[in-house]
Amino acid sequence: MSKMTLEELRKLREAKKQEAAQRDTEGKDTLVIVGMGTCGIAAGAKDVVDALLDELKKVGNENVIIRQAGCMGLCHVEPTVEVRSPGIPNTIYGNVDAEVARKIVRQHIVDGRLVNKHVYDKPAADIIEQ
Ligand code: FES
Repeated sequence: MSKMTLEELRKLREAKKQEAAQRDTEGKDTLVIVGMGTCGIAAGAKDVVDALLDELKKVGNENVIIRQAGCMGLCHVEPTVEVRSPGIPNTIYGNVDAEVARKIVRQHIVDGRLVNKHVYDKPAADIIEQ
């Protein structure tokens, strides 16, 4: 196993700090939950988490908490991502890949518009909290 240079270690520490900050809840109002049960992982949920983290970094949005859940009971549409964001109904997306994850960040979280083709579930208009 090769040794890491001091510079590589610093970069790794910085990357891990940013990852940890993404899980810190203070002052954040958007929650993204990724289904990471065995079927979610098998379907590519890890790539989805990586794409979400990367795209959030690109758009400079530090107001989002990323959580990993276990089984969401939605094997047939894994990977699944639930987004709870102010001003837009809680939404569960299905069949999410890295590209869709990036769209969720830019379209749903930044612009407040649903990524229609991948909406699996959202509350009916009469039960949406005001
Ligand atoms: S085992 Fe697939 S969603 Fe639970």
